[in-house]
This record gives sequence, structure tokens and C-alpha cells, in this order.
Amino acid sequence: MHPLAHPLVSRRAEALRGAVTAPGDKSISHRALMFGGLAIGETAIHGLLEGEDVLNTAKAMRAYGAAVRRDEDGVWRVSGVGVGGLAEPEDMLDLGNSGTGARLLMGLAAGHPITSFFTGDASLRRRPMARVMKPLGDMGARFVSREGGRLPLAVTGARHPLPLDYTLPVASAQVKSAILLAGLTAPGETIVVEPEPTRDHSERMLRHFGATVRVEDRADGTRAVTLTGQPELAAATVRVPGDPSSAAFPAVAALLVPGSEVRIANVGANPLRFGLFETLLEMGADIALENRREEAGEPVVDLLVRAGGLKGVVVPPRRAPSMIDEYPILAMAAACAEGPTVMEGLAELRVKESDRLGAVARGLAACGVEVEEGPDRLVVHGKGRPPLGGAMIAANLDHRIAMAFAVLGMVSEKPVSIDDGEPIATSFPGFVPMMNRLGADIAEEPA
Ligand code: S3P
Repeated sequence: MHPLAHPLVSRRAEALRGAVTAPGDKSISHRALMFGGLAIGETAIHGLLEGEDVLNTAKAMRAYGAAVRRDEDGVWRVSGVGVGGLAEPEDMLDLGNSGTGARLLMGLAAGHPITSFFTGDASLRRRPMARVMKPLGDMGARFVSREGGRLPLAVTGARHPLPLDYTLPVASAQVKSAILLAGLTAPGETIVVEPEPTRDHSERMLRHFGATVRVEDRADGTRAVTLTGQPELAAATVRVPGDPSSAAFPAVAALLVPGSEVRIANVGANPLRFGLFETLLEMGADIALENRREEAGEPVVDLLVRAGGLKGVVVPPRRAPSMIDEYPILAMAAACAEGPTVMEGLAELRVKESDRLGAVARGLAACGVEVEEGPDRLVVHGKGRPPLGGAMIAANLDHRIAMAFAVLGMVSEKPVSIDDGEPIATSFPGFVPMMNRLGADIAEEPA
């Protein structure tokens, strides 16, 4: 535990009641700042997530020469520099905890003839960057990094970036997006082929800003995304939907705490982000999707969630990219469900903000839940009743591990403690007061 750690204790809750709004989508917020920073004119962003990850991206975009401000009406306004117009940052860029911030900005930097230095917190400095260095290197950028492609690293972008035709070795929207961002300054077509479709916020937003992006689903199940290089991006208005990855926490809490009924407004329902809710419905969850609409090219719904018994299911590996950040909270639901829940194709979970597969397996076992952990699979044997709890969970600088176990504490027989709730602010500032307003009993204890 570091000296500024902020421990949490989550105790068994009474029925949750009320209505909440999910905070802005993290993925879309990062992209809105980046595309706004590249566009000509003033982009207005409504509902930007004001979490630390996104605020670090805002700072980085200022360092690259964009004017980024938050007005009193809560709207963020970005005046861009135009594609190819980024200035060289005067100092190191610190992306904090954010893999998305770091990898996407590396793509942006790789297509400009400037040198940028990237670093981050202890979690981000452990994460693999070679997955973006390789394709961006093929486009003409040069990198110097720590051993194993770890931060801190320096990138000198290409003066004349080459368009690329690249097949992703892993399903990663971050790698796809980094290549597309670098492809903006390359002539001709940059093509990214994904083994399985991953979140398509970059594609949707590029189009929203006026770029030409073609998407082709191929017969072999892969998806090819083609960007026409050197577009002129025009400022646009972006309305950021609520983050389904954040809505997941109050939603699962409401499913698990008996007698609960919670409404969650403004949840992004992009099908490439909605795998958790699909899975929960298969488990027998009572979730009504209401008021379907579209905002700035993204589908949005309101959720009405009522508590009820869940059954274990087998989650198909092909669904993993559409719920990759939701396995920790799904595992908490599985721990209370009746029968085993089998989750496969999870290798990527080991290289997130922490090794989430290991953290979930260890934490659940410490709370008295029977689990089987494989290199890329997890089986949680739920018994249809609340787990024992009573453990201290190491958050390891991982917001989603902290929030998932805080939810488990709400139904466990004994309180669940989290050694540090501080990382929650990276994606969900206000998580603890919001959950407590619904009826949770999460206390911030002195370190
Ligand atoms: C993200 C992509 C995913 C996800 C992350 C956000 C994005 O990462 O885990 O939280 O915004 O593109 P990978 O691309 O590494 O799977």
C-alpha cells in the first residue's frame, strides 16, 4: 500500500433504490479530445468524463498545441491544429494510469515529425507498448523504450509516414486506433484487419469529423477498416454517452442486493461494448432497456435493473472484446449465481491496469468463492447465495478491481476491504458517494 492509499470498506447493503446517470464514456472522451485537437475549428464536447485518465489526455493535447478548455457550462471546447499540425511538446507527457491515452497518443505522435516522451504511473509503466511500436515503426516512426517496450519511451514521428496494411495479432481497439491516428497523416489508404471486431469509436468519430472510413466484414470473421489518409477534419459537436463499463458496477450491484430497483440513465449501447449486458440477460437478469436513441453516432439506452437470482453460463470467447473490461464485475455476479460461470479467451486480462485474471481469482478465493484459474480462463463456481467475504483486496492501481470488490462487499456476509480506492478516480469519480446514495455502505477509512 502506498503512503497516499485510500482504503475502502464495503459492508452488506439494504435494497438499493434510486436513479443515477453513468459518467461519460472513457474511450469516447479520450477520442473526442484527440480528434478535436486535430480538427480545424472549435469542437464542443458535452458530457466529457472528467476522470484522471481523460484529464491527462487533455493536458497532453494542450502540450501538442491544441487549445483545450472547460467552460462554466461544463462543456469542453477544443480548438484543433489541423491534421499534421501538432507541435512538439516541451516536456515529458505523463498519461498516469491510462493505456488508451498512451497508446492512442503514440499513434498521433508517430505521424508527425516531432519527438515526444511518454511516461505513466507504476501500472502503466508495466504495460506492453511493443504492440503499437511495431506497426507504428513500420509506418516510419522511431522509438527508444525501456526493456520489453515499456514506458518511459521516446518516439520520433515520421516526416513522410507510410500507409500500412496491418493485421492485428491481438484484438485491440487501442492498437487499431493508434494505427488509424498515424494513418491520418499518411497518403493513401491505411488498412487495419482485426481478428475479431473491437470497439469502433474511432471509426465512428473519424466519420463524424469528416474522414472517410470503410468497414468490411470478411467471410473469415475478420473485419477490415480502411482509412483514407490526409483528410481535413472539421470541428464537430460530440455528446459523450454514459460509459457502459462504469454503468456495469451499479447495475450488477442492483442485480445482487435483494429487493433492489435502480434506474441508470444514458448508457452507451454500442454493440461492441455491450457484451456484459448480453451475458447478464443470459444469466436471467431482470434488466429492461428503455428509451433507445442515437447520439453523435452512438446508440444510447436507459437501464432499469431489478434484483433477482442469476444462473451460471458459459461466456463465448468471441464475445470477449465487447466486454473485455467487464470480466471483473461479471466474476462478482458469477460468484453469487447458481452454478459455474465459464469465461474463456481472457489472455488480454493479464495486461490491463493490473493482471485482472489473477487479481479476480485471488480476491474471490480470499472471499470464500471456489474458482479455477487457467492461463487465459476463469471458472467461478457460484452457490446461489452470498459469499463469505471478509478479505482485504489489493487493488494494484486498478480502478475496476477496486470497484468490483466494493460491489461484492455489498452482498457478502462479512465486509470486503480494498487497500486503495484512489484509482477509482481514473474512470469513475464519485463512485463511492453515488453507490452510497443508492443505499450502499462503503466507507472511506483512514489509511
Ligand atoms: C480501449 C480498448 C481496450 C479497453 C480499454 C479501452 C479503448 O483495450 O480495455 O479500457 O478505448 O480503445 P485494448 O485495446 O488493449 O483491448
